[in-house]
Amino acid sequence: MKLALIGYGNVGRALARLLRQKRREFPFSVTGIHTLRHGTAIDAGGITGDPGFGPRAASVEEFLHAARADAAVELTTLNPSTGEPAIAHIRAALARRMHVVTANKGPIAVAYAALRDEAARAGVQFRFESTVMDGAPVFNLWRNDLPGVKLLGFTGAFNSTSKVVVETMERGGSFEDGLAAARALGITEAGGGYDVEGWDSAAKTAALANVLMDAGVTPRQIPTRGIARLTSERVADIARQGKTVRLIGRARRTRSGVSLRVRAEVLDRRDILACASGASNAILFHTDLLGTFGVVSIDPGVEQTAYGVFGDLASLLRG
Ligand SMILES: NC(=O)c1ccc[n+]([C@@H]2O[C@H](COP(=O)([O-])OP(=O)(O)OC[C@H]3O[C@@H](n4cnc5c(N)ncnc54)[C@H](OP(=O)(O)O)[C@@H]3O)[C@@H](O)[C@H]2O)c1
Repeated sequence: MKLALIGYGNVGRALARLLRQKRREFPFSVTGIHTLRHGTAIDAGGITGDPGFGPRAASVEEFLHAARADAAVELTTLNPSTGEPAIAHIRAALARRMHVVTANKGPIAVAYAALRDEAARAGVQFRFESTVMDGAPVFNLWRNDLPGVKLLGFTGAFNSTSKVVVETMERGGSFEDGLAAARALGITEAGGGYDVEGWDSAAKTAALANVLMDAGVTPRQIPTRGIARLTSERVADIARQGKTVRLIGRARRTRSGVSLRVRAEVLDRRDILACASGASNAILFHTDLLGTFGVVSIDPGVEQTAYGVFGDLASLLRG
C-alpha cells in the first residue's frame, strides 16, 4: 500500500522509522512527503532513507496527485479551534478517494461527522486512533471489540502538561516551574497555555464524544475551566488532605443528548484518575453491559503515537 505523508515532524519521523522496522510483515511504501518549510519529496519507488526534499508542491492537491498513493497520513500541526489546515488536507485526500489516517485531533474535535460522511461517500476509511490517548486503543477498541455495549459516559484525565504542573507545585515549585518542566519534557502543545487553560482536554473530550456518542460538538461548546488560577497555597492545602488536582473531561448521556464539561477537579490520591501521573493518560468508560472499565497509557511518547497511526494503517491493509 502506497502512503502520502502530510507533515514530517516528530510523529511523521517516528512513523517512518516504524514502517522501516516492520516492512517485511507490513508492505507499505511512502511515495510522497509534504511539509510546510522543508518542501516536498516524491519517489514512486518508495522513500526509504532521509527524504530528498525539493521545492514545496504548490498545493496539497498537487502533492497528492504527484504521490499517487492509496492512503494519506495527516500529521500536521494542531489548530484546536479551526482544525485547519488538517481538515482541508483530509478533504483533498477523500476527494481523490484515498483512505485517511491522522493523529491530529483538530479535525475530529471540530468536523468529525462531516468528514466521516465524506469518507463513507468516497467508499474509503478514515482512522484517527492516536488523537486522544497517544496510540493506546480507544476508538478501535469500541469499533472492534464491544458488540452491543452502550456507552453511557466517560471520565478522562488526558492532559499531561497540567499533571506535570500540579506535581511540580506539590513538590514546592511554582506554576511557571511546572510549565517549564512540561516544556522541557516536550509534552506541551502551543507553549503550554492551551493545555493549562483546558483546551487540550476540551478538544479530546469533544473528539471522544463526537465519535463514540455522536455528540456533534466543538471544543468551544464545552464548558471548560483549566488549572491556570491554581495557587501554590491551594495545591499544598489539597495535598495535606491526601488529595490532588487533575484536569478531568467528563461526558454523560442525558435524555436530551450528551452533557460535557472539562474542569480542574480535586481527587483522592487513590482515585484511578489521580494515579495516572506525569505524561500518563487514563480514561474510564461507563457502560450499560460492561460497567466501568478503562484504558491507561503510562508515559506515552512519540513512538506510541506513531504506533497508533501504524495500527490504523495496518487495519487498512487487512481491508
Ligand atoms: N507529538 C506527539 O506525541 C503527538 C501525540 C498525539 C498527537 N499528536 C498530533 O500529531 C500531529 C503532529 O505532531 P508532531 O509532534 O509531529 O508535530 P511537529 O513536530 O510540529 O510537525 C508538524 C509537521 O507538519 C508540517 N506542517 C505544518 N503545517 C503544514 C502545512 N500547512 N502543510 C504541510 N505540512 C505542514 C510541518 O512542516 P515543517 O517540518 O516544514 O515545519 C512538520 O513537518 C499534531 O497534530 C499533534 O497534535 C502528536
